[in-house]
Amino acid sequence: MCGIVGVVGGRDATPIIFDALRRLEYRGYDSAGIATLVDGRIERRRAAGKLDNLAAVLARAPLAGVTGIGHTRWATHGAPTENNAHPHGTPRVSVVHNGIIENFETLRRELEQAGHVFVTETDSETVAQLVDFHLARGLSPREAAFATLRRLEGAYALAMIFAGHDNLLIGARHGAPLVVGYGENEMFLGSDSLALAPLTRRIAYLDDGDWVMVTPDGAEFFDASGERVERAVRTTALIAGSVGKDGYRHFMDKELHEHPVVIGQTLQRLIDPATRRVMLPDLPFDLAGLPRAAITACGSAFYAGLIGRYWLEGMAGLPVDIDVASELRYRDPPLTPGGLGLLISQSGETADTLAALRGMRARGQHILSVLNVEQSTMARESDVVLGTVAGPEISVASTKAFTAQLSVLACLTIAIGRARGTLTAAQEQDLVAELLDLPSRANEVFDQAPAIREMAAVVAEARDVLYLGRGSSFPVAMEGALKLKEVSYIHAEAYAAGEMKHGPISLIDSTVPIVATLPSGRLFEKTLSNLQEARARGGRLLVFTDTEGEARLRGLAEIVVALPTVSEFTAPVIQTIPVQMLAYEVALLKGTDVDQPRNLAKSVTVE
Ligand code: F6R
Repeated sequence: MCGIVGVVGGRDATPIIFDALRRLEYRGYDSAGIATLVDGRIERRRAAGKLDNLAAVLARAPLAGVTGIGHTRWATHGAPTENNAHPHGTPRVSVVHNGIIENFETLRRELEQAGHVFVTETDSETVAQLVDFHLARGLSPREAAFATLRRLEGAYALAMIFAGHDNLLIGARHGAPLVVGYGENEMFLGSDSLALAPLTRRIAYLDDGDWVMVTPDGAEFFDASGERVERAVRTTALIAGSVGKDGYRHFMDKELHEHPVVIGQTLQRLIDPATRRVMLPDLPFDLAGLPRAAITACGSAFYAGLIGRYWLEGMAGLPVDIDVASELRYRDPPLTPGGLGLLISQSGETADTLAALRGMRARGQHILSVLNVEQSTMARESDVVLGTVAGPEISVASTKAFTAQLSVLACLTIAIGRARGTLTAAQEQDLVAELLDLPSRANEVFDQAPAIREMAAVVAEARDVLYLGRGSSFPVAMEGALKLKEVSYIHAEAYAAGEMKHGPISLIDSTVPIVATLPSGRLFEKTLSNLQEARARGGRLLVFTDTEGEARLRGLAEIVVALPTVSEFTAPVIQTIPVQMLAYEVALLKGTDVDQPRNLAKSVTVE
């Protein structure tokens, strides 16, 4: 959730840290701060709000020093004020923290009884005060950090600096990611390798429970019991150049326009175009023998999973259980041993999805994860990773990752269908041909931008919006409603079209626009009847259909967007793009902070 960075070396630390915080701002943007060591003393600058506010503070009061830590915050405990902004500390130690210290109240009480005075409302300050407690007893930074870590419960990634120790950073991770970057006579800590991308591509990942002493010469790793351990240094493939707006006004707009490329790149990894066959990497289990699949994810990734369920059940004949990860992890469903645990995540760091992954493994599932960040914690804990080749997704609202996830799930469905004998080789070739057609069909969606803007003008005036869809278009409607809520702050609900008359139809009047996703195919007539029922009650219909369905909707719907006609199989991929575009256009009209909507963070590494 929050972003962490640390630098130790020979150069001016503040500009390096600030630059890295810019790349981490997607993780949280309630407040930010930097602390450095200046002649052995800890100096600190902090500001509430976006990083620009911190830049203004630094311009007024520059911060020297070659060793320092920085933080962008997504508030959990304590309002997003300057006082609650990280780094937290005392004259002896300064700490940045990502995660939640669950036993902070107990620790705080103990420390207060020992005479420590807390100055913030955060759980994180407890860490700094506890380290300070141990330093005051004469422990070294290393001993004080270890003694502190042994008392912490919950999730954390931490970086610390210590007064009088100009060349030392200590980092730790438990349930929240942290990486070590290797430079030339300088070393780094970061929440992810993206933050460190222009500084170094040589990265070591801490395992859960690890902590690390970092000096300009290198890093010494320890496990949770304090034993020295080795962690491999790898060269990451990420390049900083791919993290720009490329002339677009917002990252969200840029990333929406990347849908066609991302679909193409992702399919390219999994399909042999010459034979029109799906080619998965070698798997440590047999697809034909899977008894069932359990899918889990959060937010948009969960909706991608719902579409995956329609495909896996309908085309591969594989029974599927699916639940959001935050529910699954505490529900303890009986899973059939030897089943497929299918996790979907852009970041690969989402706390609930990661916990669900571990729960599934404990219950004998083969873990296959569909991930965009292939160096993430989930990647390292999976039996197989099928990568979505979406590149860095910076806009907090997910867009291109969704169609990339669908591209992977579509290939997986075909592979499982072939293995289980529900799909013939000829059917596989036809389905693959439909997939390979997707990038160019996706490109055509952008021709509909003027009609989508017309829709946006209607939606922007509404207080509530209903999204309807049936079959695999229902999760598309959910994705549309979520995206609208996220970036425009307009209330939206998605319903399965057939459920309308069981309740939500009472909401319908001329002030509640109904956005329907209605591709031609088996379910067209059924959903059309539901729309007629809504129209008869004064509902304003805004419909995404395809060129084949268009004529049937003229006269019934107020605005019709005719997308390229594709098969029922690939329709949800195409239909997703315009519902996301609609949310973006509405956000522009509402003047919201599109790339960093209020209260959100890109990577949800707390429960
Ligand atoms: C919606 C959105 C979130 C994420 C969710 C899961 O636009 O971005 O709902 O989809 O937080 O995140 P990942 O995919 O990183 O696990």
